[in-house]
Amino acid sequence: MSEIRSNDPTNAIRQAVERIEDHLIAVRRDIHAHPELGFQEVRTAGVVASELARMGIPYQAGIGKTGVVGLIQGGRPGKVLAIRADMDALPIQETSGLPFASTLPGLMHACGHDIHTTTLLGVAAVLQEMAPQLAGTVKLVFQPAEEGLGGMQAMIDDGVMTGPDIDMALGFHNHPDMPAGTFGYTRGPGLAASDRFDIVLRGKSGHAAYPHTTIDPLIAAAMLVTQLQTVVSREVSPMHPAVVTVGAIQGGTTHNIIPDSCVIKGTVRTLHPRARDIAQAAIERLTAGMLEGMRVQCDIDYRRGTPCLVNDDRILDPAVAAVRAQFGDASVTAREASLGGEDFALMAERVPSFQLKVGSGQPGRSDKLHNSAYQPDEACIGLGAQALSRAAMVLLAG
Ligand code: NI
Repeated sequence: MSEIRSNDPTNAIRQAVERIEDHLIAVRRDIHAHPELGFQEVRTAGVVASELARMGIPYQAGIGKTGVVGLIQGGRPGKVLAIRADMDALPIQETSGLPFASTLPGLMHACGHDIHTTTLLGVAAVLQEMAPQLAGTVKLVFQPAEEGLGGMQAMIDDGVMTGPDIDMALGFHNHPDMPAGTFGYTRGPGLAASDRFDIVLRGKSGHAAYPHTTIDPLIAAAMLVTQLQTVVSREVSPMHPAVVTVGAIQGGTTHNIIPDSCVIKGTVRTLHPRARDIAQAAIERLTAGMLEGMRVQCDIDYRRGTPCLVNDDRILDPAVAAVRAQFGDASVTAREASLGGEDFALMAERVPSFQLKVGSGQPGRSDKLHNSAYQPDEACIGLGAQALSRAAMVLLAG
């Protein structure tokens, strides 16, 4: 991959961002005040479209229902780099008390996707200005519905990977546990494959005083939940992080009735394909074993969700080098993988990709994502835009 060119663009990128930073913050506050849930980002997509139009960047709206895709053509031919931001909010009542807090009851940008959308608009402005120096094309991907509703899949179904074909991709997420101005990366698997299962256990109902005349699905469910704890502890390799969590058990009505059926719901998180396969096979096998051991009929619906987000060294290394070139070596640190999920993984499954962690923590606060009082440091918008712009320039240096 290309080295950073001798014509050092550090100041040019910083100044380009500084010129628009106040505007970016105003756009962020506007989006923050008007949060929209997944596939309902009509107003947000409109803001994105009008900003791109103002910059002279051609775009297509309505990709994956409410997604927007902009294209920046470099001065020379080269590869196609996608940079992806998500746009959706969460069903949370905001309690931040900020003057630009959500104006909509029960809706809030509590995961900072307003920050992501605005950061990518900042990147768009910088790269459009520097387009003559780029070899290749930047595809700006403003994605709807990241929060579990399948926005990335919808964009892929609508052809986001093609026309022009994406060769590599950058994603990013804000991290309030890291101060603004710092950045992070995870080599290899960074976020988990996220699968879910529903198990229905069917027995035979009857009087609680005569259990021998029934087939009790509750005792079978209790045993199965316990047995599922052995999937991670005794089947998946200890070298492969995995979680099996049962989040719901539903069955029965009152003290003296053994019910006909019981339902178990759970999630499985893994970082390695082998752990994913082993966990699924073990859960299905243990569930099937309930018929032989406990006489209950068991039906399992096991659904694979987003895959593991695997960071590719071919993108990670030049991108991290670029951020270090922009902000200094100490600005970027290695971070542990997490068993959270992220549907950027679907793009990363198709082309070499890297998800950059962008510090968004304010001094003196200990914010958390998905918290009703979340207050990211808005400085992370401009800083993130500088980092991603520099990474794009390095990746498209040809
Ligand atoms: Ni998020």
